[in-house]
Amino acid sequence: MRTKLIAGNWKMHGSLAGNPALLQSVASGAATLPTVSFAVLVPFPYLAQVQARLSGSACAWGAQDVSDEVRGAFTGEVSAAMLLDFGCRYAVVGHSERRARHGEDDARVAAKALAAVEAGLTPIVCVGETLAEREGGQTLAVVFRQLDAVLERLGVRRMAGTVLAYEPVWAIGTGRSATPDQAQEVHAALRQRVSNADWVVGGGLQILYGGSVKPANALELMRLPDIDGALVGGASLAADDFLGIGRAAALA
Ligand code: 13P
Repeated sequence: MRTKLIAGNWKMHGSLAGNPALLQSVASGAATLPTVSFAVLVPFPYLAQVQARLSGSACAWGAQDVSDEVRGAFTGEVSAAMLLDFGCRYAVVGHSERRARHGEDDARVAAKALAAVEAGLTPIVCVGETLAEREGGQTLAVVFRQLDAVLERLGVRRMAGTVLAYEPVWAIGTGRSATPDQAQEVHAALRQRVSNADWVVGGGLQILYGGSVKPANALELMRLPDIDGALVGGASLAADDFLGIGRAAALA
């Protein structure tokens, strides 16, 4: 059985003064749901604070990006080793907002995933199609292309050290989640793709769904056979909502 992971992507939200209350609520709520894994993925400047507040708690933490380089003249970038210095377990790579705004292509995303795994971080690798791609019948072709880049760069054995997240771009921040059928179809196809290379790795791979997950739709999504948790944006900023999704994962 794959453990469910509920990961909160704070995106560019939070404040030094406001974070402790949210972290405290999340940590105490997570402690009451021991069958579910939790993580918060926070802006870089808050990692020290999050490490101090969550160390020893039932909630892990991580960053929203990581450099594909180890060290050197890369202004503005943050290495995997630096994230490990702050106790990070996870780093998101290839979020659609970074693909769109920062020109991160499949090769760069794969390089970031490799840098993370090599350092001992777990990359949460995001894949997902735009609305135009879905309407053009390209959904599986797009997510396979994005997955294959990572699979080829890492090799299937190293994929065991990753988490995959299916985030349809049209469902992010729109209030319009994928339907259970739409999500399950893509999750099953992604798992099959990895299983074709190694069925043990495919069978064990955690695949999260992301895109307008809320307490109200979490249970129907978390019940699906190939959905192993959620990558939560907006609803991760309110402890009640985030933990409500966690409770759904525990019930599913
Ligand atoms: P929302 O939950 O706000 O739709 O964001 C999803 C997301 O992008 C998580 O990475």
